Amino acid sequence: MIERISKLKHEISVHIISSKEELEEFRLKYLSKKGLITQLFNEFKSLAPDQKKIVGQKINELKQHAFELHSSFEVNLKSKEGYKKSIDYTLPPEPFKPGSRHPISIVRKEIFDIFSRIGFTVSEGPEIEDDWHVFSGLNFPKEHPARDMQDTFFINKDPDHLLRTHTSSVQVRVMENTSPPIRKIFPGRVFRNEAISARSHCIFHQVEGLYIDNDVSFADLKQTLLYFSKEFFGQSTQIRLRPSFFPFTEPSAELDISCSICGGSGCNVCKYTGFVEILGCGMVDPYVLEASNIDSEKYTGFAFGMGIERIAMLKYQINDIRYFFENDLRFLSQFS
Ligand code: PHE
Repeated sequence: MIERISKLKHEISVHIISSKEELEEFRLKYLSKKGLITQLFNEFKSLAPDQKKIVGQKINELKQHAFELHSSFEVNLKSKEGYKKSIDYTLPPEPFKPGSRHPISIVRKEIFDIFSRIGFTVSEGPEIEDDWHVFSGLNFPKEHPARDMQDTFFINKDPDHLLRTHTSSVQVRVMENTSPPIRKIFPGRVFRNEAISARSHCIFHQVEGLYIDNDVSFADLKQTLLYFSKEFFGQSTQIRLRPSFFPFTEPSAELDISCSICGGSGCNVCKYTGFVEILGCGMVDPYVLEASNIDSEKYTGFAFGMGIERIAMLKYQINDIRYFFENDLRFLSQFS
């Protein structure tokens, strides 16, 4: 009997099933009430008790084996059928929903395009900086209150290990490694230890511009910024420069543009002044040129820096800076 059991086991193992009908045949032949395995159980009843133990175990194993094969064939057949049913190659494809660029990327690219038309190229620098590139090399003396203008995140309380508060740090890096003429813009993320509100965030993006050559004048700065403002906000845009202070530029100024929302007639965005501030700028302080080994007798230059969020908010009339960082598709999909 043991021999018959192992023969049957072999027969079952090499069985091939490729259709529902064959599966049913398999069940009838081996597992049904009149099947071969049930027959073995019937014969088993008349065995001597000492044989029962061994033979009983073998038949049980055989039955288990047959069951397992049957259910795995069943699963296989079902999944094949399901697969056939779920794909209809004649149907039109599901509509594909492309993503869209983030508004910050759109505005950054537009700034690149505008400045590349007048010969500026792009350079980038690290986000984790040292004191020299963010402050000292830009004429922020130690303990000078000007450092408070930009609340800084220090890493492990190390005064020489910090997140850059502005992209002016890249100016220093480029001036250290390049000899004039330099005509570059530096985009990047900057970090300030500020409370998050509709108007300010602890992370934002800036684009810095630097132009150093013989005889670069304030008039060149003004003309460059007028060109940029008209290209970016529209040809009817007017600009206004107000005296300001930055340790690394002398003279320094802030640039206002005529309000792109009310066109200058007064609204709550421009606080009824008709103008909104978009960037800081000035002539690079000779101290800063010398600190980076550029001869300030021979060369002069201008620099400017703007917040990308700020000008994106003006361009698209967005009233809360937090939208840029929340990844809410209802906001982002408006830019597709
Ligand atoms: N770095 C200044 C800021 O973050 C902006 C600036 C850049 C001003 C270049 C003048 C010249 O506020």
